[in-house]
Formats: sequence, C-alpha cells, structure tokens
Amino acid sequence: MVDGTSAPSATETGRAPGCRGVAITLDGRRIDAAEGATVLQAVLAAGAYIPHLCWDPRLEPYGGCRLCIVRIDGVRGMPPACTTRVRDGMVVHSDVADVNRARRMVAEMLIADHAAGCLTCASDRSCELQEIASYLGIDRKRLRSSAREEPVLDESNPFFTRDLGKCVLCARCVRVCHELRGVGAIDLAFRGHETIVTPANLGLIADSTCESCGACVDACPVGALRPKFESTPPARSTRTICPYCGCGCGLVLGTRGGPGEERIVSVRGDETNPGSRGDLCVKGRFGLDFVSAPDRLTTPLVKRDGRLEPAGWDEALYLFTAFRLQPGAAYADIIRNPRTRSRAE
Ligand code: SF4
Ligand code: SF4
Ligand code: SF4
Ligand code: FES
Repeated sequence: MVDGTSAPSATETGRAPGCRGVAITLDGRRIDAAEGATVLQAVLAAGAYIPHLCWDPRLEPYGGCRLCIVRIDGVRGMPPACTTRVRDGMVVHSDVADVNRARRMVAEMLIADHAAGCLTCASDRSCELQEIASYLGIDRKRLRSSAREEPVLDESNPFFTRDLGKCVLCARCVRVCHELRGVGAIDLAFRGHETIVTPANLGLIADSTCESCGACVDACPVGALRPKFESTPPARSTRTICPYCGCGCGLVLGTRGGPGEERIVSVRGDETNPGSRGDLCVKGRFGLDFVSAPDRLTTPLVKRDGRLEPAGWDEALYLFTAFRLQPGAAYADIIRNPRTRSRAE
C-alpha cells in the first residue's frame, strides 16, 4: 500500500495474477489502471471525468493548462493529472472544493483572455473550453477582459482560418505539427501574456512550411482553428478509405441529407485505421468536395452520332469490349481517375 491509505490493493481488485495493473481511488471510487498510465488516462478510461484542455492522447503529456490539477494523498500541492503516473494505492481527489476553486481561477483567466462571442463561434457546442466552464459552474466573465476586441485572423490558408483571439495556448496544434506530422510549421513565440502561436518569421501560415494537412485544426479544442468549408454538423458518420492514392488512409466522413441528397459535410482521419492512424494529407482532408460537385461524372457516357449520352455500365462495358476485339481496332484503354466512381451501383 502506498501513501498509507486504505485503498484496495491490486489483488483485491480481482485482476488475474501477473496482470500489470494498479488500483487507484478517485473521489472514493476504485479505478483499475494500467501500470505506467497517467492519472488522467486512467480516469478517462474508467469513464470518469477530470477537466483537461492541453492533453491529447496521441501526444506526449504537456502539463500546460493546469486545468486537470488534482490533490493526491502524500503529494505536495496540486499536480496535473495528465503528467502524473498512477501508483498502486494512490488516492486522488478531483471533484472537491479546493481543487475546483483553483481550476475555476485558471479557467476564468483563460475566458478573460478569450475573444467574446461564443454564440456566433463555429465551435459553439463542440468547444472544450465551454464544456469545462460548464463543469466548473462558470457562466459569465467575472475577471476584466484582457482579450483583443477585434478578431486576429489569418485567412491566408485556402482551407482553414486561424483566429488568435480565440486561442487558449494549449499548444496542441504546435505539438501535433511537430510530434505527429514532423513538419514544425508553427510554434509558440514570446512569453507571458504576449505568447502566441505563429509560423516561423511571425508571418502568414500560407508563407510557412505548412502542408495544409489539417491535423492542427482537428486538434484545436476551441474555435481558434476552423475549417473554412465545414459549417454544418454531420448527422451520420461513415468509415471509409481515401480514394486518392495507394496509401489508403482511413477517413471518417460526416454526412447529412436523405437518400439521393446525402452530402459530405466533414472529413476526419480515422484513428482506428492501423495504417494511417488518423493522419491525412491535404487531398484526403480537404479535397473531397468533388463528391458533391454538380458536374461530376456518375454514369458512363457513350458517344452516339458525335454526342456523349448517359448509358448503363453493361452497355458501356459491352461496347468497350466489342471495340477492343474488333479486327484492326484502334488503341483503346480504360483510364481511371480517383475522382470517378470505381463501382457501378
Ligand atoms: S496544417 Fe498540418 S502542416 Fe500545417 S500547421 Fe497544421 S499540422 Fe502543421
Ligand atoms: S490554436 Fe487551438 S490548438 Fe493551437 S494553441 Fe491555440 S487553442 Fe490550442
Ligand atoms: S490522405 Fe493523402 S496520403 Fe492518405 S490516401 Fe489520401 S491522398 Fe493518399
Ligand atoms: S490537461 Fe493536464 S495540464 Fe492541461
């Protein structure tokens, strides 16, 4: 037993002998965790909640936002749950008055720095700062606003908008770009209240080494990075494969509309795809608008009397084969474009 507490030991949790797990207690509830997991990982895996903003399961723990602080018996201060590893018998206090008071102060400072206008923000209702404010019972700006009144926009990228007025400096975008994409197009610059996320040379994102993969956009917990062409939340999600190249990256397509009118309203990388693990390039992430293009070919065309007319697949393939087998036939072949349909329905 660690820290002199009465939390149950690993054997008391009923795990199989030899299983490398530990047991911790969160606000009086016993939680089984994998050895080496952080407190935050263990808590979230058990279906419980601790507020967190800078943590991303794909990235190295960062410990920047201080919203996941907890009290741990035998440990001084309030360490972040996202950087603290579990120990067997650890007793963690999260949803308690002094911890929530400290988190509330952190959240209120973030909100004071944040541009106003949540109701008109494209991330309204999917914003993690809103979720945390709601958990902590914050419903208004109590501290004097220190946010810039005007949006600090960079619209130079054709696919996404950067609005520094909404940035909460969680650095998820920066770390995704460095750790996952290996590009390093953006970084944190300056110190204290002056800190910003910026491309090298403090210029526009379009003038940087950014590859427009969108990984930073998907990692942003607030409305500071937003895709330009995704304004409607999807009604359904479908896992599929990117049609563009042989890498075969996994996609999750968000769609809306009934049969015959269904259209893609969002694209994300499929984190369950073992090959791409959520990564996409610019074509897969932002290049699928052709699917709903009104001039997209969706049926074969056959030339009759010098005019191209829609035909069925059977007829088109029959005519093609007959033409190929004709004695002395001229050259003919099938050229497939990744943006045409590859399957007849
Ligand atoms: S779009 Fe991709 S390459 Fe560009 S800044 Fe974001 S993560 Fe980096
Ligand atoms: S732009 Fe978004 S992801 Fe990047 S630091 Fe700001 S809030 Fe975090
Ligand atoms: S996302 Fe990019 S790399 Fe992946 S399959 Fe599509 S085109 Fe290829
Ligand atoms: S989520 Fe732990 S410090 Fe940000």
